[in-house]
Amino acid sequence: MKIAIIGAAGRMGQMLVKLAGEDSGLEIGAKVDVAPGFDATWPAGTEAVVDFTFHSAVPANVEKAASEGVAYVIGTTGLTQEEQARVDACAAKIPVVQAANYSLGVNLLMGLVKKAAAVLGPEYDIEIAEMHHRHKKDAPSGTALMLAHAAADGRRVDLDEVACYGRNGIVGERPEGQIALHALRGGSVVGDHSVIFAGDVERVELTHKAQGREAFAAGALHAAKWAVGKRPGKYTMQDVLGFTE
Ligand SMILES: NC(=O)c1ccc[n+]([C@@H]2O[C@H](COP(=O)([O-])OP(=O)(O)OC[C@H]3O[C@@H](n4cnc5c(N)ncnc54)[C@H](O)[C@@H]3O)[C@@H](O)[C@H]2O)c1
Repeated sequence: MKIAIIGAAGRMGQMLVKLAGEDSGLEIGAKVDVAPGFDATWPAGTEAVVDFTFHSAVPANVEKAASEGVAYVIGTTGLTQEEQARVDACAAKIPVVQAANYSLGVNLLMGLVKKAAAVLGPEYDIEIAEMHHRHKKDAPSGTALMLAHAAADGRRVDLDEVACYGRNGIVGERPEGQIALHALRGGSVVGDHSVIFAGDVERVELTHKAQGREAFAAGALHAAKWAVGKRPGKYTMQDVLGFTE
């Protein structure tokens, strides 16, 4: 299967190139990046594009893929609402897989968080803490947002109505039902996420720590193979892993 990797010069892109190169079922048709020495775009015959770039770069590339009927896998996070709307429109023409985290462990964690939020109820305060390397440009991480949505789903509430993004100053007492997100940045941390359910007499903490970028890259390549031949539509890693069946 012929794929193109966009953002091939980046941290994730280099890992994707390495893993795809080792996979006999995949042929890298293009290594696309704005960095010197890389391809400017992908050639005809490309079956799937895997995108780990920058949010503003995503819509134009998905639109090009949609006009060519090429499946698209988005790992890039931090898209604005307008950028996301352009991506969503393309899903009428091609299969688009989009996940803020392609690792098996985090996708399992999402299910556990949803279940815990449903069982423990609003008297358990939910705090989400994430830590990433100092180069990460968006905050909170797309994965932390996914986990916050999973917790809100478990509680059957709208995240927008209960979310709190960090605290500073005289913020007053914590309201019941709030779901708070906190972003830590530093060093070379690949990606840590903890969801804490703090009750009066006990605390439950669910934590995932990525030990390398391989888990994300392997998941994204798995998603690319899965997406080719699928009907047009928006899919998540939960669909790819069969967790939604
Ligand atoms: N979904 C996941 O599992 C997952 C995992 C890790 C990172 N990410 C996300 O992936 C993205 C990339 O992360 P990274 O750490 O590899 O970043 P990075 O900065 O190391 O790499 C991004 C690359 O994209 C290239 N690029 C930027 N604009 C481009 C364009 N218009 N066309 C082609 N190439 C372009 C840059 O030159 C760079 O080489 C971020 O949004 C990050 O949050 C997602």
